[in-house]
Amino acid sequence: MASSSEEFTYKSYRLDPKSPNFQFLAGKYAAISLQALSTDPGSFGVAYSTESTLGASEYAIRLSRPNIDVFICVAHAASLASELHDIEHGHWIGMVTQVGPTPKEVFWLRDSGAPEPLDDELETKWHHTGLWVDPAHRRKGISSQLIKAALEHAAKTLTGTVQQTRFRLFAAPGNEGSPGLYGSLGFTHVGKCTIPEAMAGNGNATYPFRGIEKWSEEELQRREGVILEKVIVK
Ligand SMILES: CC(C)(COP(=O)(O)OP(=O)(O)OC[C@H]1O[C@@H](n2cnc3c(N)ncnc32)[C@H](O)[C@@H]1OP(=O)(O)O)[C@@H](O)C(=O)NCCC(=O)NCCS
Repeated sequence: MASSSEEFTYKSYRLDPKSPNFQFLAGKYAAISLQALSTDPGSFGVAYSTESTLGASEYAIRLSRPNIDVFICVAHAASLASELHDIEHGHWIGMVTQVGPTPKEVFWLRDSGAPEPLDDELETKWHHTGLWVDPAHRRKGISSQLIKAALEHAAKTLTGTVQQTRFRLFAAPGNEGSPGLYGSLGFTHVGKCTIPEAMAGNGNATYPFRGIEKWSEEELQRREGVILEKVIVK
């Protein structure tokens, strides 16, 4: 999946933990993750202060978790030889993580207002997190390209008894970018989540929200995160 502008060609890749250069890719992933946390700290549940203490090996472990797929958008300069247009060369300018397929009993947040998903043999369930695009490359369709790459990957599960795929994300209160963006791709607002639900759903249950350990019980139970979903039928 590729698009181009005056100076760059943009292409989205799945970061493959089986790649021979995986350690190198994990280092690049650590760098783009920290860049995202420094430009847009309010958009993420984890914090630069805690994430910057982790080594590349920790990022490699995270990327190797089962049911986690990371998609990276790479900008290749027009002057770069076309045989070098791959995930290793060029400038990493965007990313999204897709968690799934997740079993219904883990996925469904019963008190959130979100509709009850179908049973797992009829529907696969996926969650998006960590979407970020370098500010210098925004409003060029990069996010849409990344999300479509993730949806296409998940669509491979639309076989056998599986009739549909369900996609979800949580948007922080006040974040206008993700509802605008995901809304343009057919996602709708279906409910509200708490901080612990958001951290667990995003695969960060063991990390303190925004790097702060002490949240009051009232803050932790407040249902303010916006849940957006989309269902694709076979
Ligand atoms: C939100 C973000 C990921 C969008 O990335 P992007 O590559 O610029 O998005 P796209 O160019 O694919 O946008 C496609 C459409 O989404 C909508 N959209 C994108 N950014 C938007 C914003 N900030 N506000 C409202 N709508 C937006 C628009 O409809 C846009 O189409 P248009 O440019 O023709 O108007 C990017 O601004 C970002 O990284 N923000 C900080 C991190 C963040 O908020 N991540 C989401 C956490 S859940």
